[in-house]
Amino acid sequence: MSSALWSGRLAGGLDPAVLDFTASLEVDRRLLPFDLEASAAHARMLGRQGLIPAEKAEGICAALASVEIEPDATDEDVHSAIERLLGDLGPWVHAGRSRNDQVQTAMRLWTKDACDRLSEGVRGLAVALLDAADRDGEALMPGYTHGQRAQPVWLGHHLAAHAWALRRDLVRLAAVRAGADTSPAGAGALAGSSLPIDPAWVAQELGFAAGFENSIDAVADRDYCAELVFACALCFVHLSRLAEELVLWTSAEYGFAQLDDAAATGSSIMPQKKNPDPAELARGKAGTAVGRLAGLLATLKGLPLAYNRDLQEDKRACFDQVDDLQGALAALRVCVAGIEFDTARMAAAAGDGTTVATDLAERLVQEGMPFRHAHAEVAGRVAAGERFDSPTAAEAAAARLPLAALHDQLARARSAVAGG
Ligand code: ARG
Repeated sequence: MSSALWSGRLAGGLDPAVLDFTASLEVDRRLLPFDLEASAAHARMLGRQGLIPAEKAEGICAALASVEIEPDATDEDVHSAIERLLGDLGPWVHAGRSRNDQVQTAMRLWTKDACDRLSEGVRGLAVALLDAADRDGEALMPGYTHGQRAQPVWLGHHLAAHAWALRRDLVRLAAVRAGADTSPAGAGALAGSSLPIDPAWVAQELGFAAGFENSIDAVADRDYCAELVFACALCFVHLSRLAEELVLWTSAEYGFAQLDDAAATGSSIMPQKKNPDPAELARGKAGTAVGRLAGLLATLKGLPLAYNRDLQEDKRACFDQVDDLQGALAALRVCVAGIEFDTARMAAAAGDGTTVATDLAERLVQEGMPFRHAHAEVAGRVAAGERFDSPTAAEAAAARLPLAALHDQLARARSAVAGG
């Protein structure tokens, strides 16, 4: 490695084991495009303020445009690599900034971008669910409570429920993005700078909604990271509930649906198997995602202000969380897009003669019976082994949610997802 940025004070050189342990380049090299953008804005600001010669500022911006970090680079982090790769111009760029505000600036830019990418993925899965609801939404299925058949519902009603959960994820991701949209550039190590820098100009150049209010908070705050990791964890929880149903519904025991071959895997020993691995892995990774949230909060807990190296751990949590969620969203979208429902089998389960018991009791209420008495009467008939054919499952579902209302709901879900 070329000597560390801070080697003036510590001339002895870092033990390789310590460098290995503390370096973050392998993780944070993905911040490169964001740090380059922020570094260029910083250099332009230095030039405008007369803090470095104009030609140095221009030279830095030109050089930043073509910076690429070698695959085998051994810099401590992406910020050190950029300064090294600027060569003779490197020594000019760091006036009025610290890696503490630099890393935050790049990370907040990355977070905004990540929220946009995730929202696209969430939207894609929600649309796939609503497309499936448009195709097969008028099929009947048993709705479940306690894992037991409860009442007949339209398949579209059920699929749209997953889409509404995803819509809330979109709202949350938009809030995370807004929370990340404050520029920390100019906060320096923690205390700002005695140089006449212009943080507001840099914030505007970088497209931030605002600049920081308090420089100490600006370098210490990782709320936006925790919020991102939480929003992803909750979205993952939603995916895991969908995934669980895909696993159940595609089992021979339910037989409600088949995955497309493109969304299933086989067994190395059992020739007949068609396994819902993407759904299982989404369910499994949801557990890891929940753990990452606990891990990040534990990292932040008890940290004194302002910057501490512990905070370097925020990146792995955020990056892994976002990577996993993006992958799960894409894979589940394939599962849902290609799913084939056995609507006859679902309808048969919905019409087993018991699931309409509540609707039958409600009919008796409409004829003037108190509900508790109606419940008791129908329960007695169920206990005696009676199976009901009136109302039918379709009549029962339609009495609660007429098909026209279902289609209205699907249309509203679609526009909420498109707009959110
Ligand atoms: N790699 C560090 C991080 O991710 C960048 C900031 C380092 N600052 C420092 N003073 N060591 O947090």
